[in-house]
Amino acid sequence: MVRRYTGVQFVNLDLLTYAGNLENLVELESSENYQFVRGDIADADLVDDLFSRFRFSTVVHFAAESHVDRSIENPLSFVQTNVIGTAILLEAARKHWPAARPEDAVRFHHVSTDEVFGSLGLSGEFTEQTPYSPRSPYAASKASSDHFVRAYSETYRLPIVISNCSNNFGPYQFPEKLIPLVITNAVHEKPIPVYGKGDNVRDWLYVADHCEALDLILRRGTSGGTYLVGGKNEVPNLRLVEMIVDLVDTVLERSPGTGRKLIRFVDDRPGHDFRYAVDTTRIESELGWKPAHSLENALEYTVKWYLSNSEWMQSVHTETYRNYYDRMYGDRLDTDEQV
Ligand code: TYD
Repeated sequence: MVRRYTGVQFVNLDLLTYAGNLENLVELESSENYQFVRGDIADADLVDDLFSRFRFSTVVHFAAESHVDRSIENPLSFVQTNVIGTAILLEAARKHWPAARPEDAVRFHHVSTDEVFGSLGLSGEFTEQTPYSPRSPYAASKASSDHFVRAYSETYRLPIVISNCSNNFGPYQFPEKLIPLVITNAVHEKPIPVYGKGDNVRDWLYVADHCEALDLILRRGTSGGTYLVGGKNEVPNLRLVEMIVDLVDTVLERSPGTGRKLIRFVDDRPGHDFRYAVDTTRIESELGWKPAHSLENALEYTVKWYLSNSEWMQSVHTETYRNYYDRMYGDRLDTDEQV
């Protein structure tokens, strides 16, 4: 669903690298208050020029390399986009938003991840006060960019807000992340890689719930604050994979158990964080936010979305994707170890 905002002009800056796809935003193209610019947040001249031309009052910064496995392969691209790119956006905001402005006239919202806090054991939850302890190059790059955002708030009084969310899922997600990867492989009856024993736990946040939270934080969140956003949907990976393949079997009217036969345990991800979970008391009590979707319903909707958007699936299965997939999983999937 696309919410229409009246009286607000939007500029969307995106480099459209491998996971970006203009088709995802086709519904917005005809909106008079929306403009797309293809470009790099780490291009200081471009960012400065956009701030001059459009006189932004708000930056919502989502632009990031976000896949942990890719960060293990190529950490420097994460430093470039997530750290340098964020610093360049902050510099433009510092230059174009003079210190004398009223406190609430502008805002820089950094969209970040709960992975900056590290890894949990079987119990406990991250809170806004949990010390940072990133363990993957991806998490380190997001932790670094969070620190820069907070440093600009302290040093230059830049009005900022940071949100750290749990694992997102929903339509249009690139099939390198667990949920769309499992759906796509199940549909094509390809082996489904589960890292280690599949007992790592993630908290799954439906994308529409995340968007509602971002909207509230942006409009009503306390300047300088951090808000944790989570779906209250903690599930061990193997259980989640089983839920997905069972749904695919049902929707495609295959005999029960067909999908489960595709599951393969593969070598674990190096430094694989065991569990993430967030305490969402702050956003619930201050802003009245709660996730509106259950995991079961949102997962069913997501599976059906992928199954009825085969052209979209085709369009993201480019050669670059296939090369990446073969490099990541080629040898690891040469295993007979089934569930
Ligand atoms: P992912 O979607 O990559 O998100 P993140 O690493 O940011 O949590 O992975 C979610 C979980 O699923 C994580 O514990 C790693 C695991 N996983 C697999 O078991 N197999 C896979 O093929 C992928 C991509 C992830």
